[in-house]
Amino acid sequence: MSSKRFAGRTVIVTGGGSGIGKATVERIVAEGGRVVAVDISQERLDELAAELGGAVVTVTGDLTDSAVVTATVDAAGDTIDGLANVAGIMDGFVPTAELQDDMWERVMAVNLTAMMKLTRAVLAPMLAAGSGSIVNVSSEAGHRASAAGTAYTTSKHAVNGFTKSTAFFYTPKGIRCNAVSPGGVATNVDSTPQTAYGMERLGPFFQTNLPRTAQPEELAAVIAFLLSDDASDVSGAIIPVDGGWAAV
Ligand SMILES: NC(=O)c1ccc[n+]([C@@H]2O[C@H](COP(=O)([O-])OP(=O)(O)OC[C@H]3O[C@@H](n4cnc5c(N)ncnc54)[C@H](O)[C@@H]3O)[C@@H](O)[C@H]2O)c1
Repeated sequence: MSSKRFAGRTVIVTGGGSGIGKATVERIVAEGGRVVAVDISQERLDELAAELGGAVVTVTGDLTDSAVVTATVDAAGDTIDGLANVAGIMDGFVPTAELQDDMWERVMAVNLTAMMKLTRAVLAPMLAAGSGSIVNVSSEAGHRASAAGTAYTTSKHAVNGFTKSTAFFYTPKGIRCNAVSPGGVATNVDSTPQTAYGMERLGPFFQTNLPRTAQPEELAAVIAFLLSDDASDVSGAIIPVDGGWAAV
């Protein structure tokens, strides 16, 4: 990687132990950045640290725990140039009538509320610096109903609203906020179907409309672009990175 867009910069990446988050950490480090990688999996973070060495600081914990949010910001230090909110969980394609409270609450807590709390926490140092870039990972399910179950679809629509609202309030103060919407990506995300009706409704849409499966690095490239100064005039955008699925 010849470009060093993140030299001298600190970026927080959630879900940094796997998939899109891990590829994002690797990309930022390759471009000269220092990364605080957060994940619930100690094992995955240990592997990441072994691979990347001193350029990565790891924080292990569940981001739905406010203490982990605080520990993450503390690990970054006084200056936080970027935040990539990547961590997320699926919902087993469960439709509304079959939703259990614990699944709804967990999906909202991980995919949405943890994102809000960490974003809120990094805004203080970013506002003090008068600059910063936040990138949220949404989903095809943020655009349509035919890509996941009810809880996940609702959470990702909310991620889009959260992204736009944050951009609206803070772009005038030098802080950009954008989202990427992946289609299908080859990661460890749990997409095990749990209900027959969920698969019965979703299956035909996947077979007809899902163009291709992306590699995590293809998402990381766009996330890194949005985090970097190359995207200096991009804020409030929800960018599909889905092989054209959103155009269907
Ligand atoms: N893979 C896809 O096809 C796809 C499609 C659309 C959107 N997405 C979104 O991409 C993002 C990344 O997913 P991925 O596909 O790379 O999955 P992944 O499972 O490979 O990686 C997600 C990482 O987040 C971590 N994580 C989960 N819950 C956490 C929590 N509470 N606290 C801290 N860490 C936690 C996991 O341990 C894992 O390492 C998610 O927001 C997901 O919704 C993925």
